[in-house]
Amino acid sequence: MHQFESPLKPELAEIIRVKEETPFLKTFTVRFLDKKKQKQFSFIPGKFVMASVFGFGEMPISISSSPYQKDSLQLTVNAVGNISRQMHLLGKGSVVGLRGPFGRGYPIQKFRKKNIIFFSGGCGMASMRSAVYAVNAKKELFGKLFLFHGCKSPQELLFAEDIAKWEKEQNFNVFVSVDKPTPDWKGNSGFVTDLIDKVDFPVENTFVLMCGPQAMMNIAIEKFRKHGFKPEQIFASLERLMHCGIGKCGHCNIGKEYVCVHGPVFSGSELEKMHLREG
Ligand SMILES: Cc1cc2nc3c(=O)[nH]c(=O)nc-3n(C[C@H](O)[C@H](O)[C@H](O)COP(=O)(O)OP(=O)(O)OC[C@H]3O[C@@H](n4cnc5c(N)ncnc54)[C@H](O)[C@@H]3O)c2cc1C
Ligand code: FES
Repeated sequence: MHQFESPLKPELAEIIRVKEETPFLKTFTVRFLDKKKQKQFSFIPGKFVMASVFGFGEMPISISSSPYQKDSLQLTVNAVGNISRQMHLLGKGSVVGLRGPFGRGYPIQKFRKKNIIFFSGGCGMASMRSAVYAVNAKKELFGKLFLFHGCKSPQELLFAEDIAKWEKEQNFNVFVSVDKPTPDWKGNSGFVTDLIDKVDFPVENTFVLMCGPQAMMNIAIEKFRKHGFKPEQIFASLERLMHCGIGKCGHCNIGKEYVCVHGPVFSGSELEKMHLREG
């Protein structure tokens, strides 16, 4: 549910910090100009905002910060096209527009006392980081935690500082794999989906949260299913082209499902009904 008077009117937000994460990804910390709106803003990890770069357009971006961070929020943007490249040119003090939050996030309240596997690839780590923060802040409520993350090269590892911190935490099993290791890379190499067959994790009472390229998610779902996971134990976040973000324009639909409203997070059972196989 959006929180401002009109779901179609962007609210102004100032960029208060920019962090260069990798050669193509930057994290923008933004704060609504209207203090009351900033205070009102809340979201569930997995939800997204429509971010406007004025004069260029709007794009859907997941919120990558913790839902418990109240004075600002973070958007981690991959410079892939017209709007995202323009956003990368903005700095501290620039103003962007934000609508949202939109869509359905990860049903974290369902996972209490359960084990959780966070599974992400590339810039899918953006929405996953928010879910990890949310769960980690109340760790005592959950079972064993696992994070699997894959990226192309060590240089493209997103949120390396967070990952290094999580690796040192008790009850947090972190596995990172890079497709193309450099000579100084000491971790796993190969596709992150290969780790599913190599790592020991519980299947009973375990939920898998997934975000990343569709091809990675298709393989990961198939592998987790082979390990005995039922479709309802898996939740995956989908990406589609979006314009309105509120179920009106029809740009994001897959059959009768509007990814902007009924997703972007879908359960494995819902995905099976959607017959989603494209890459
Ligand atoms: C729910 C949701 C959450 C997202 N979260 C993030 C995020 O946290 N960080 C981030 O960097 N990106 C995220 N994206 C993707 C982001 O919205 C697109 O990369 C963005 O729209 C690109 O806009 P552009 O004008 O820069 O690129 P364009 O010029 O529009 O496109 C560049 C290339 O990307 C393709 N493309 C554009 N949008 C999408 C899309 N939604 N799905 C698949 N391919 C697309 C185009 O076909 C083209 O090949 C998210 C998308 C969705 C639907
Ligand atoms: S983006 Fe318009 S219907 Fe989903």
